[in-house]
Amino acid sequence: MKELLIEFPPPRERPMHPPAIVAELRRSQPVSPVRLWNGDRAWLLTRYQDVRAAFLDDRLSADAARPGYPHVTAASAVGRSMLPNFMVMDDPEHGRLRALFYQDFLAKPIAQRSAEIAGIVDDQIDRLLAQDGPADLITCFAQPIPARTLAPILGLGAAHGESLVAYMKVILGRESSREEALAANQALIAFFERRLDESELLPSSGVIARLACQMKAGELLRRDILGCLRQLFLAGQDSTASSIAMGVLLLIQHPDQLAELTARGDRRVWEAACDEIVRFLSVTHFGRRRVAIEDVEIGGRLIRAGEGVILAENYANRDESAFPHADLFDVFRPNVRSHLGFGSGKHLCLGLNLARAEMSLALSTLFARAPNLRVVPPEGGLTYHDELTIYGLTSLPVVWS
Ligand code: HEM
Repeated sequence: MKELLIEFPPPRERPMHPPAIVAELRRSQPVSPVRLWNGDRAWLLTRYQDVRAAFLDDRLSADAARPGYPHVTAASAVGRSMLPNFMVMDDPEHGRLRALFYQDFLAKPIAQRSAEIAGIVDDQIDRLLAQDGPADLITCFAQPIPARTLAPILGLGAAHGESLVAYMKVILGRESSREEALAANQALIAFFERRLDESELLPSSGVIARLACQMKAGELLRRDILGCLRQLFLAGQDSTASSIAMGVLLLIQHPDQLAELTARGDRRVWEAACDEIVRFLSVTHFGRRRVAIEDVEIGGRLIRAGEGVILAENYANRDESAFPHADLFDVFRPNVRSHLGFGSGKHLCLGLNLARAEMSLALSTLFARAPNLRVVPPEGGLTYHDELTIYGLTSLPVVWS
């Protein structure tokens, strides 16, 4: 059979599901040549086993500056910050920068922040319910939570948390012009720079004060800290907000599962449900990008040094061989923790414990406090955006009684 060369990403037919062609590719050519927006070629991996193995393969580099790296949007190709971003670096530099934050995002310190996160979630629900419905669940609830929960980890107070929410709305807002987004991006860096300079005003236990100490001792460069703070902030915003918003929609669409979750009530069950939301939606819909630094065989196919590879964790998460009835949303799925929605290997999502805590507290508390929450789709139905690196709903109007 003639090999298919598809445009990446292929269009979706149904908003909550991968394009139909993906199942066909997985069956007939699991390592597929694809053409990117700028005409470049790359290899697309769609099988769970191949994607998982590729995450662990050091012959595949995450360094976005290497020739052949598959940039999936124009913004990713030209808009990369001059500041460090360890998501697109290899070891040892990647490991050195990641280690600066690792301890703050482990399961135990995040669990100790449960009451703090629950307080932020409750406050956002108060603000939502204080409105005359319908209200947009994304702007009133899902979006502010990630910025507000990151603030205290950095050692910032509530007012600074609100500033982060404001920057985030412009940087990631689809209604923002390119100039507005760039200006907000610079203002965010300047904001972090001021906090670094005034670090003696911040609690010594927070990330910023700790890194400022290392900077003053000559152990760290200012630009390294600023780049990492910016990256940390951006990586955790839209990904979590979009998963919360679409998670609400999914649970409303599956009332039996929502009723059972609410009846069981326990935190672990909610966390597992959030993993199923991450598996099912995989909002990081452009996959993870890598470039081969030596010849490597994947799925029986030779990939040459210098060729780009897209590890489509979003498609791998729908592979029947790993998840029976993969296209069904099932919050009680037994092996859900083996999904690849947070990546795997050296670049495994640094914020996954925080994301699980935010999502589970946000969803469980929202449905406890507003059990009759309903979606009121605008005329023409709900709309989704797919041009950004995070997939999501444009808005989610809700009412409650
Ligand atoms: C549902 C929410 C989230 C999803 C689906 C998600 C997904 C991912 C994925 C797939 C990667 C792997 C990148 C790669 O292999 O190239 C990643 C990395 C990363 N994530 Fe998340 N993420 C989420 C929330 C967060 C949060 C809340 C934070 C922090 C506040 C965060 C910070 C990071 C960072 C810093 C990396 C880079 C890790 C490295 O390169 O070593 N993420 N995330």
